Amino acid sequence: MAGREVFGAEEMEQVTDVLKRGVLFRYGFDKERGGVFKVRQFEQEFAGYINSGYALGVGSGSAALKVALEALNLPKGKEILTPCFTFVATIESIEEAGFKPVLCDMDETFNISTEDIKRKISKNTVCIVPVHMMGSAMAMDGLLDIARENKLKVLEDACQCTGASFKGRKVGTFGDMGCFSFDYVKVMTTGEGGMVVTDSEELYKQAEFYHDHGHPHLAGLGRGDEKRARKGFNYRMNEIQGALGVAQLKKLGDIIARQKENKKNIKEEIQNIPGLDFRTFADESGEIATFLTMLVGGKDKADRFKETLKENGITPATLNYWHFTANIEIAGGSFPKSKEILDRSISLEIKTIMGKELLEKITEAVKKAAKAL
Ligand SMILES: Cc1ncc(COP(=O)(O)O)c(C=O)c1O
Repeated sequence: MAGREVFGAEEMEQVTDVLKRGVLFRYGFDKERGGVFKVRQFEQEFAGYINSGYALGVGSGSAALKVALEALNLPKGKEILTPCFTFVATIESIEEAGFKPVLCDMDETFNISTEDIKRKISKNTVCIVPVHMMGSAMAMDGLLDIARENKLKVLEDACQCTGASFKGRKVGTFGDMGCFSFDYVKVMTTGEGGMVVTDSEELYKQAEFYHDHGHPHLAGLGRGDEKRARKGFNYRMNEIQGALGVAQLKKLGDIIARQKENKKNIKEEIQNIPGLDFRTFADESGEIATFLTMLVGGKDKADRFKETLKENGITPATLNYWHFTANIEIAGGSFPKSKEILDRSISLEIKTIMGKELLEKITEAVKKAAKAL
């Protein structure tokens, strides 16, 4: 599932292009950089790729969420709804930005339950942060209806879903703002890195100012001569990250296509095993196939299944602590329905480069594990 698997001459070339000039800062140094602005180029190409009005490169996906929440300028202390099943960074960023995370159940798509959103909306709710989990989109149409009816902002956490779409439209472009991660294990990577996207010029400006100490980045005026436009901090992306982003984005289509093919080949071999079910999708054609998630009859069966996979050299993903329990430790609540689904699920990471040998090893291990069902 990782852009790092396809690092090659293109990444070297892009990074060397930066190092040759020695300018690692995204702003200024016009003479030394000779017209090379890698972060800016990455932002423009990323915005074009997902069809968003504006994109802002930042230092991580966590930073992207924090920057977007600050840009939205919502009243501090209010409640933000988000799923109980997400990486802990979603919850942390809501707290870091001064809001109260209110967790909602997930459903069989492993994304936030719109039914639970409706139950949890209160007079203090200001925003929903849906998370497109494990490479597959949340059903954004239903969620946007609820947000509109209740006048709530929507910030999409698409950190695990770069390149995925729902009904033909790229995730991250449905809400008021969207966030992406390019950390080292993501479908495309800049080592660490993230992107904030929006169609609103005003929200983009707020994000841009905030992520660089409130600098308004006025044309023709040096950093020292500007006045602070708003409260801010440093969440900037640097030119090496930008360079990697330029190279990796060019490969994203191919990475996704390979993963889909690998996943299809595995699924074809195991889809008729009695007692073995699969994750359901809001839009399967739009997924990026970073994971294959199977479901069995209960926790005991799933635990046995995972043990057999490990005995056969295949390690399933561990999702329950950092993606569920830690969130509840921070934000509270009780989610027996979500827990029941997670407990009986087994997720396998789909690699970008997968030879016949590995493919057979996975399908054989799954078949052996399924014998005990
Ligand atoms: C759903 C989700 N949100 C946010 C993040 C944070 O991204 P980063 O690791 O780039 O800070 C991640 C990273 O795994 C994630 O999965």
